[in-house]
This record gives sequence, structure tokens and C-alpha cells, in this order.
Amino acid sequence: KLIETSKRLAAFQAVKDYLLPIYTHIGIGSGSTVVYVVEAIAALGPSVTSGMTFYPTGAQSEELIEAAGLNLQYINKLPPNKFLDVAFDGADEVDGELNLIKGGGACLWQEKIVATAAKQFVCVADFRKLSERLGTSWTKGIPIEVLPMAAPRVLGELKAMGSLEPKIRPGLPGKAGAIVTDNGLWIIDAPFKPLRLNGEESKEGEWKVDELADRLIKIPGIAEIGLFYGKNGLQAQGGGAQKPIAAY
Ligand code: A5P
Repeated sequence: KLIETSKRLAAFQAVKDYLLPIYTHIGIGSGSTVVYVVEAIAALGPSVTSGMTFYPTGAQSEELIEAAGLNLQYINKLPPNKFLDVAFDGADEVDGELNLIKGGGACLWQEKIVATAAKQFVCVADFRKLSERLGTSWTKGIPIEVLPMAAPRVLGELKAMGSLEPKIRPGLPGKAGAIVTDNGLWIIDAPFKPLRLNGEESKEGEWKVDELADRLIKIPGIAEIGLFYGKNGLQAQGGGAQKPIAAY
């Protein structure tokens, strides 16, 4: 109950602070927190939202947008020289530099495409998710989207890089086999020792967020990884103990 209240508060605050009525193109992420983001947007009413178009990051957010009666469009329809005004999404963990782990719900590739197509990215997260270093509270591992035929070799590479027991994520209860993403791929969850911040000094045996992300994305068979970090430096905005909001 406390958690749901906190997610909802964070979502309403984020929409209040970051969704300006003049905006026209808005990204909507995935997960259970984003449900409240869409609720907060819909609550603004058609006088505000009818001039806005919403871009989903997968099947779940597409349904949310439609169910709320908001205008839906796909990111592949956005001309390359245009950017979303803002994108809202959740996260599984947020560190002291506002780097994120995402993909706990098996959406991450489309999320990253939408996030990077936006001028501002607003992460809506409840109080459980803020920790000093990634991998502290979210211990299931970094979600990595892989081509199924490459999964065994990717697991081998991850172990060689120091991941403790990387695993192919199983399907939902009652469903045999691996979970299949919106893109027809699999997810590997790769736990690493808590990641050092990009601004910290390197240390033997511990990865920094950006170094790990750069290394992982080069492994053949990995489509995308659930590490999000700001190239231009992330800034903490909004906030309050129960509602960290990351924006870049
Ligand atoms: C989906 O795969 C994720 O990236 C979500 O954004 C993340 O898991 C947060 O989800 P919740 O809002 O459900 O915690």
C-alpha cells in the first residue's frame, strides 16, 4: 500500500513538474509506475491532452495509452530530425549519479530508443529504488536483451567478465521456456558486484557503469542492455524522500 501510494505520488509530481501544456510529443515507458503516470496525464483532461501525442515503449504502454483515450503514435513515425519533448519511465534502481537499471519487466530496448529520442527523460521511482550504487537493492542482475541463438555464448562472456551466475530469464509461471520480449528476443539477468559511479576512480574487480555498458554492448548477440546513463551528466530534479526523479 505504502509502495503504491509512493509510486502514485511520484508519478503525479513528475507529470506536474515536467509535462508542460505546450508539449506535443511525449514518450510513455513501461512498468507498474508508469500506470500512474498515464493516470496523472489523463487526469489533466482533453483540453490539455488532445493536442498531445504519446509514444509507447512496448505492448503494455501502448495499451495504457489507448485505454486512457490518449493519442497514440509509434516512434518509427517520428521524423529523425524531431525529438519528443519529454519521456516518462520507471526504473528498477537509481544510483547516486542517477544512472539506472531498467528491464525488470523485460522492456528495455524500446525504452532506450524512446528515452534517447526525447529532449528530457524523466524517471519516476519510489523510495525503494534509490541506492548509492547499482546492484545494491536490485540484486537480480542487469537485464540484457539477447538473440536466443547467442545466449549460451553470451552467458560465457558474462561469467568471464565477473558476473556471478548470469541466467536466462524464465517465462511467466506456467509458461515453459524463456521469457520472450516484445522484440522476440530473450533476457539474461547478469548480477555484478555493485557498480562504481562514473565519476569515481576505477578499482580492480569492480565495474563502473559506463565502462560495463560500453563493454557489454560490444558482445555479439547482445541487442541492448538495461543500464541507462546520461551522456551529458544527469541532474537530480524534483525529489523529496519518497520521490526521486531523474532527468536528463
Ligand atoms: C520495464 O522493463 C522496466 O524497465 C520498468 O521501467 C522498470 O522495471 C520499473 O518497473 P516498475 O515501475 O513496475 O517498478
